[in-house]
Amino acid sequence: MANDDIHPVAKGQSRGFSLDYAPAPESASVVSIADEYGLFIDGEFAEPESGELFATVSPATEERLSMVASGGVGDVDRAVGAARRAYDGVWGPMPGRERAKYLFRIARQLQERAREFAVLETLDGGKPIKESRDVDIPLAAAHFFYYAGWADKLEYAFPGRDVAPRGVAGQIIPWNFPMMMLAWKVAPALAAGNTVVLKPAETTPLTALLFARLLQDVGLPPGVVNIVTGAGPTGEALVDHPGVDKLAFTGSTAVGKRIQKVALARGVPVTLELGGKAAHIVFEDAAIDQAVEGVINGIYFNQGHVCCAGSRLLVQESIAESFVDRLKRRLATVRVGDPLDKNTDVGAINSSRQLARITELVEVGVAEGAELYQPDCGLPDRGFFFRPTILSHVEQTHRIAREEVFGPVLSVLTFRTPEEAVAKANNTPYGLSAGIWTEKGSKILWMADRLDAGIVWANTYNQFDPASPFGGYKESGFGREGGMHGLAPYLSAAPTGGRS
Ligand code: NAI
Ligand code: MG
Repeated sequence: MANDDIHPVAKGQSRGFSLDYAPAPESASVVSIADEYGLFIDGEFAEPESGELFATVSPATEERLSMVASGGVGDVDRAVGAARRAYDGVWGPMPGRERAKYLFRIARQLQERAREFAVLETLDGGKPIKESRDVDIPLAAAHFFYYAGWADKLEYAFPGRDVAPRGVAGQIIPWNFPMMMLAWKVAPALAAGNTVVLKPAETTPLTALLFARLLQDVGLPPGVVNIVTGAGPTGEALVDHPGVDKLAFTGSTAVGKRIQKVALARGVPVTLELGGKAAHIVFEDAAIDQAVEGVINGIYFNQGHVCCAGSRLLVQESIAESFVDRLKRRLATVRVGDPLDKNTDVGAINSSRQLARITELVEVGVAEGAELYQPDCGLPDRGFFFRPTILSHVEQTHRIAREEVFGPVLSVLTFRTPEEAVAKANNTPYGLSAGIWTEKGSKILWMADRLDAGIVWANTYNQFDPASPFGGYKESGFGREGGMHGLAPYLSAAPTGGRS
């Protein structure tokens, strides 16, 4: 049977018969969203000093979901104070095996309430329910399980060193994987004995606030985790607070650079996980059908709002035309629309601001000479949506080949030799991830050695595991999250006997 016969036909692509999927919406009744949320400080929800609130909307419908407190300088100060008291009084002195019990409890609660978290993640952020249900929330729980296991074994993670927590960790996370980023930051910090002040992103605060409720339910001592919602200025107040002993940030390179400057001036250790412009490299000897799936997953997963997204396809010139044809055919079957529908592959763009940025960069790409392909799929009347896009005939100098789009947009470039693929892949200010498709193991190793990327996937893409360190080089930031490496930034480690 030819491949064409087994692929469902997307709307508007009918060849005389229709295999359109019937709607399969996940019920939103499993979540209850309050009209208003305060800041989570010292184990309780508190009014912000300023009295200011901001709206968080569902990007799929543009409906307002809730009003959320905007934390000011004084609020951040209260949160850091609570975290300090919890560190000195409870969490710091607590034996690792006792801390582990709380982390295991958090992980189990996340699993038990997974559906509620997944639906809320999708409502507030726009990602398809099949991703929040199958990827975001299970991985968030997995991170808590994983780090719970380390809490009483820190001396084995760093043999020959005297390890100690750093104190109060200030953590700022983005909107593309709200719960996953929360888990990547909070789990290792707590396992290592630190307390936390976390600032979620302003378009996706609701799951972090549900997490605050979960922390109340598991009886985490007050002040161990504080959650201060707000936008950039709230984040800035946290970065600037002299009571913060360790900073961790995931987000844009511009904000990351500012945070690095402040941290350096104050001598505060910092880890930064910033943008990317990954090369996804396909050789002529690759398993082509699998590579097509890998490339599609690599860029359209989570609407392309992924720092490690395979946004630059480098395909060997000999197969470029037929490979791009296959990609287009596959893209025509991708289902775009209601993120709560279980069949949806590409959901809503996270915000109108991000939609404007994606639209602008695609226009720039076309003006620079790239060839545009978008499937002829219908888009919902309301909400922020963007057709998955392929830009072919892209040149190295095009903005679309250099800047992070952070949207469902693939730029296609070609190469002839492995050397040329490496040179082009590395010709970027970023260095987060890369993908290689070839049947030759030796070629994979040769390439992986030469690619400036923190993560290299071979014959697969977007594989995440809590035991595996994740992080970048160059303008993609530094420091690693996940694995033992992810514990290190939350500990100071002197040679045994070196600490007084
Ligand atoms: P952003 O860097 O402004 O936002 C990320 C987080 O930082 C949010 O919680 C935000 O409130 C906070 N923030 C903003 N300004 C801050 C400041 N001065 N001090 C402390 N915290 C601050 O990113 P934005 O504007 O939402 O997205 C812009 C671009 O950044 C995207 O198009 C994408 O290219 C990139 N980005 C990369 C991410 C990644 O995972 N590496 C995540 C989000 C965005
Ligand atoms: Mg929202």
